[in-house]
Amino acid sequence: MSKTTLLKTAAAAALLAAAAGASAQTVLKIGYATTKESHYGVGSTVFCDEIAKGTSNRYTCQQFPSSALGGEREMIEAVQLGTQDLVNTSTGPLGNFVPEVKLFDIPFLFRGYDHARKVMDGAIGQDVLKKMQAKGLIGLAWSENGFRHMTNNKRAINQATDASGLKLRTMENKVHMAGYKTFGILPTPMPFPELFTALQQGTVDGQENPIPVILASKFSQVQKHLSLTGHVYSPAVIILSPNVWSKLSDADKKVFTEAAIKGGQAQRKKVNDDEASGIAQLKKDGMQVVEKPDGESFRKAVAPAYAEFAKEFGADKIAAVQAVK
Ligand code: PAF
Repeated sequence: MSKTTLLKTAAAAALLAAAAGASAQTVLKIGYATTKESHYGVGSTVFCDEIAKGTSNRYTCQQFPSSALGGEREMIEAVQLGTQDLVNTSTGPLGNFVPEVKLFDIPFLFRGYDHARKVMDGAIGQDVLKKMQAKGLIGLAWSENGFRHMTNNKRAINQATDASGLKLRTMENKVHMAGYKTFGILPTPMPFPELFTALQQGTVDGQENPIPVILASKFSQVQKHLSLTGHVYSPAVIILSPNVWSKLSDADKKVFTEAAIKGGQAQRKKVNDDEASGIAQLKKDGMQVVEKPDGESFRKAVAPAYAEFAKEFGADKIAAVQAVK
């Protein structure tokens, strides 16, 4: 082969490789617990649309809503192992992987949505997000599950003593469980995919979750009482597998991070919308709602547990969260 032909062949091969690279498509699997129409679905869809747009469709998603890839603990594990690419998950089971996250699971730590979102978006939240990397998880951005409220089939909960003796399903989260025990609740940890059947069969008296989850999971079909206790904030986070992250260019990393921030914002907006219209819907569906339970009775009950939380997480860390205005 002449030198000119060799050069032409090499140039053609390079062009072909570049064209193949430019059109190469990677489909990423993203899983979450609730339906595609729920807050998790809204946030994940915005994230997926944004990465497709920002990478000219080199990266797209296949979404697995409704716990199709398993419970949140299983999905986090799979992302860590690289057998799943992405999860949009609450922090419920995440403290078992990244202990620093557990600080946010303390009952009555946050005063409301504005306070919680400021903490997550500020130095404290962003610092914890970065800590995930050392545990083999890339925390792209905080999203949101919402403030958790109690539902049950036994009685209306107006104050902490009404919750006493109830067997409530909780997340697999030791901080929640320690807090709820101070209300006299019998916490029963259980993966979310098993919950609807457990409520239906009466294995547990009730559960606690934010309004968007209660709506999306149709708990009004199996629960009579709802009390707006707002006893704990449930942050969520969009996590990427390090396997994918390590292959991204710096420009693509920026696209993924910004897409996750936009996804998180859309998810928070859906939480706001569900909070605004969901109570009326749940009443219409037959739930009896205590809209203003005695929050002080719950705060008083949990106050002694704060000494334990301070030992575990540092009184200074708790105070720093509380000090955010
Ligand atoms: O209760 C839970 O386990 C969580 O709130 C849920 C529903 C999986 C959403 O993150």
